[in-house]
Amino acid sequence: MIKLGVNIDHVATLRQARMGIEPEPVMAAKIAEKAGADGITIHLREDRRHIQDKDVYDIKKVISIPLNLEMACSDDIINIARDVIPNTCTIVPEKRQEITTEGGLDAAGQYDLVADTVKRLHEKNIKVSLFIEPDKLQIDAAKKMGAEYIEIHTGLYANTEGAEQQQELIRIKEAAAYAHSIGLIVNAGHGLNYTNTQNIAAVPYMYEFNIGHSIISRAVFTGLDEAVKEMIKIVKK
Ligand code: PXP
Repeated sequence: MIKLGVNIDHVATLRQARMGIEPEPVMAAKIAEKAGADGITIHLREDRRHIQDKDVYDIKKVISIPLNLEMACSDDIINIARDVIPNTCTIVPEKRQEITTEGGLDAAGQYDLVADTVKRLHEKNIKVSLFIEPDKLQIDAAKKMGAEYIEIHTGLYANTEGAEQQQELIRIKEAAAYAHSIGLIVNAGHGLNYTNTQNIAAVPYMYEFNIGHSIISRAVFTGLDEAVKEMIKIVKK
């Protein structure tokens, strides 16, 4: 059965909008765990726009399911990862101006930098995943540098329609089969939502999906009714 890692970055995004204390990512992690999530995913970005260093430490302490830390190959974040020791680290590309992660990591093109990061995480027994395009060159690079997992970037699939989307789905299927055949564990993520995830779930050899934006967006509406009722009780008392 495919596992679900819940990405709770956007809970932190909301908190940072006021630079306050709510909503607490720690609480989101606990709720996701109680609801049956198989893991919690957070992205500690270089610009700290949502998840903060303290969140990484606090979330690791309160959950009993695995923590997956998404991170770029940047020294200070590698040091935090080596201190916190998440179950896995997913190496992602990062540009400061981007709204969210755009495209997969060029593991083949930046081989030495990424391989060194993998090595430094392995020294602390952290398993490593590389967030890459469904591309043989990148898969081979991931294998060669000793990553245990790849996470296939599903952004292009999620953002296209019709024939283009079908073509991307084929590319994802072929990549998953190839990665599995050389001993990599295959995850997928980015842009997956309540309507487009089924097709990716039907792709053989998928192990885990990391999904964030659509779950947190859905939670706003599934939770708003209760939140309004609770406030009405206080206001009208
Ligand atoms: N996987 C990776 C590597 C990501 O960078 C992200 C976004 O932070 C996700 C999964 C989750 O993507 P989304 O929020 O679109 O579900």
